[in-house]
Amino acid sequence: MQLLNVYDYREVARRRLPRGMFEYIDRGTQDEVLLRDIRTVLNSIKLNQQVLNDVSAIDTSVTVFGERQAFPAIVAPTAVAGLVWYDGEVQIARAARHAGIPFCVATQSMTTMEEIADRAKGANLWFQLYVFEDRALTQDLLRRAKSLGIKNLLLTADTARSPKKEWNDRNGFGIPIKPSLTGALDVLNHPRWLLGVLLRYVMTTGVPTYAHYPEAYRTKITRESVWDNVKLARRLTWDDAAEIRKLWDGNLVIKGVLAKADAQRAVDIGAQGVVVSCHGGRNLDSARVSIRVLPEIVDAVGSRMTVLADSGVRRGSDIVKYMAAGASGVLMGRAPLYGAAVGGEGGAKGVLDILRGEIENCLAWAGCSSFEQVDRSLIREERYDPR
Ligand SMILES: Cc1cc2nc3c(=O)[nH]c(=O)nc-3n(C[C@H](O)[C@H](O)[C@H](O)COP(=O)(O)O)c2cc1C
Repeated sequence: MQLLNVYDYREVARRRLPRGMFEYIDRGTQDEVLLRDIRTVLNSIKLNQQVLNDVSAIDTSVTVFGERQAFPAIVAPTAVAGLVWYDGEVQIARAARHAGIPFCVATQSMTTMEEIADRAKGANLWFQLYVFEDRALTQDLLRRAKSLGIKNLLLTADTARSPKKEWNDRNGFGIPIKPSLTGALDVLNHPRWLLGVLLRYVMTTGVPTYAHYPEAYRTKITRESVWDNVKLARRLTWDDAAEIRKLWDGNLVIKGVLAKADAQRAVDIGAQGVVVSCHGGRNLDSARVSIRVLPEIVDAVGSRMTVLADSGVRRGSDIVKYMAAGASGVLMGRAPLYGAAVGGEGGAKGVLDILRGEIENCLAWAGCSSFEQVDRSLIREERYDPR
C-alpha cells in the first residue's frame, strides 16, 4: 500500500497493531461525539485562497519558547508510544529531531526521559507531567527533567478522572498489560507485533510498563503496595499548579485549558503558556472543540503567554488553520503514533515529512510565504454541507 497521507499510515497501523491497542490509540470516549465534532469543525473551517503572491520560496519555520523549529508542530505526549513499536519513544524522538520539531516525553512513557535524551541526543525534548498522589514522586520527576536540561514542562490538567473508554473494557486492553483471554487472542492474531514488539521487550527489558514509576510498581508482587502513591492525583488544584510553578524554573504550560477564565488563572500563577486542548476527544466527550475555543483564549491572554493548541491534526492544512486561529504551535498525538506503528523511526519520519510538505503547499495556495503572514483573516467557518 502506498503511504501518501496520515490516513494511509492509520490504515496500516490498524492492521498491524492488536485491535485493543489500536482502539486505545485511535478512539475517543463514550459516544465519541467529540471525536467526530473535532473533524467536522476542522473541515468546516475554510482557508481563503489568495493568488499571484510570490510563494516561490516558503519558510515554514516558527519560534516557540525561544527555539526556532522547522514547522509549527510538537509531538504531543502519548502514554503508549513505546508500545506501537519496539523502543517507540526513542524512535519517534529521533524522527522529531530529524524533522526539526520538539518531542514531548510523557510521564507514562515506557522509556525513561534519561534514556530518550541519551539515545535521541540533540532532540528538543519537553516533558509532560501527570501529578501523582505522592507529591514527592512528582518533585523527583521535575528534578530529573531539569537535570537533563529540559526547559518546557506541560502540566496536564484535564484528567481529573479516568475517561470511560468502554471498548477498552470490552477488548481487554489496559496498562499495565494484564493477561486476559480476549487480549491474548488479539495479540496472537497479530504475530508481527507479538514478536517484534512484545517479545522483544520481554527478552530485553521485561514486560513494558510505565518507566517513570517507582521500581516497586514494576514488579507484580509489589505493585499493589505502591499503587495508591502512583495514582493520578484526584485533588489537583490551582494551588498545586502554583506550587509546581515555584519548583520549576523553566516554562510552565498548562495543558487542557478550554475556558478563558482558566487561561487567565494560568497567567495569574505565572505560567508561560497553555495548550488549548480537548485531548483529542479522549476525555470529556461533551467538551467544546479546541479550535473553536482557541480564538477566545488568544484574545484573552495571547499577549501575555504562549498559546498552543491540539486535537485532530491529520493534514498540514489543519496545522495552518490552528495557526490562523491564533496558535503559536500545534501538538499532534495520534499522527506520529500511526507512523511509528508502521515503521518505527522511519514511519514517524514519513508522517512528519508528509505533514511538513502539506503545510508548505497549503501556505502556497493561501498566498503566504511564511507564518508571519498567517492570521485570522485567512480563515472562515462555513457551516453548510457543500455536497
Ligand atoms: C494514545 C494516546 C495517549 C495519550 N496520553 C497522554 C498523556 O499521557 N498525557 C497527556 O497529556 N496527553 C495524552 N494524550 C493526548 C495528547 O497529548 C493530545 O492532546 C491529543 O492526542 C491530541 O489529539 P490528536 O491525537 O488528534 O492529535 C494521549 C493521546 C493519545 C492518542
